[in-house]
Amino acid sequence: MNYAVIGGTGLEHLALAEWQDLSQDTPYGRVEVKIGEIQSQEVVFISRHGSGHALPPHLVNYRANLWTLRELGVTKVLATAAVGSLSPTYRLGDVVLLDQFLDFTKQRPLTFYEGGEQGVLHVDMTEPYCRELRGVIREAAQSQGIVVKDGATYVCTEGPRFETPAEIRMFQSLGGEVVGMTSVPEVVLARELGMCYASLSLVTNEAAGISQVPLSHKEVVESLQDSSQTVARLLEHTLARLTPKRRCACSLAAAEAGKF
Ligand code: HPA
Repeated sequence: MNYAVIGGTGLEHLALAEWQDLSQDTPYGRVEVKIGEIQSQEVVFISRHGSGHALPPHLVNYRANLWTLRELGVTKVLATAAVGSLSPTYRLGDVVLLDQFLDFTKQRPLTFYEGGEQGVLHVDMTEPYCRELRGVIREAAQSQGIVVKDGATYVCTEGPRFETPAEIRMFQSLGGEVVGMTSVPEVVLARELGMCYASLSLVTNEAAGISQVPLSHKEVVESLQDSSQTVARLLEHTLARLTPKRRCACSLAAAEAGKF
């Protein structure tokens, strides 16, 4: 299985013809995945927050999830994420392909390389989100008349609380454009395992202090109701175009350690 989808908030399910449930044990814990076919491609699907949004962002077992994907042979990961907007460029309902991140997480396991037997890896993050994969998503979007904005700097906060307006002003002054709670360490771990990773982020709200109303998870979920169908369609058409071939450097990112 070459391809995976990690579904974020609002994309807990993907309509597949037939799902097969699979439980996979990893050194980091057990993971439940679904395996199915989309557009004649075998796809592994992980619901990041579990069914019913049971797992908050800081408690998602990112290492077990990514480890499982690698064990199943996945080389290309398409992730979805809900984000708040820090800039008028990104409006409600926009689909945004991330290209950079600012990491403001605080207490999450960040690496597979914990020293000792596992060694140490300072993985390259010059291009965290695979350029080639983003190109395929852009082509699929174009073929479907779906507008995507390619290239945004994502601020990853620890959550589960939303930000204060003062934090949002700080993130803006640092160049942050959208904010969410999950892309780190997910993208980092994918890179440590040499996988290509892209994030289709959906703008669900204006960030705290920009929005005229207090933020709520309900607002995020409601605004995803329409746009998650667009993202599902975009995922489908992206998957249809994927081939196992890789011309990017993602598989080399972990070569220095070469452990996993
Ligand atoms: N902040 C953090 N995470 C989010 C937001 C937000 O405003 N919207 C959706 N996920």
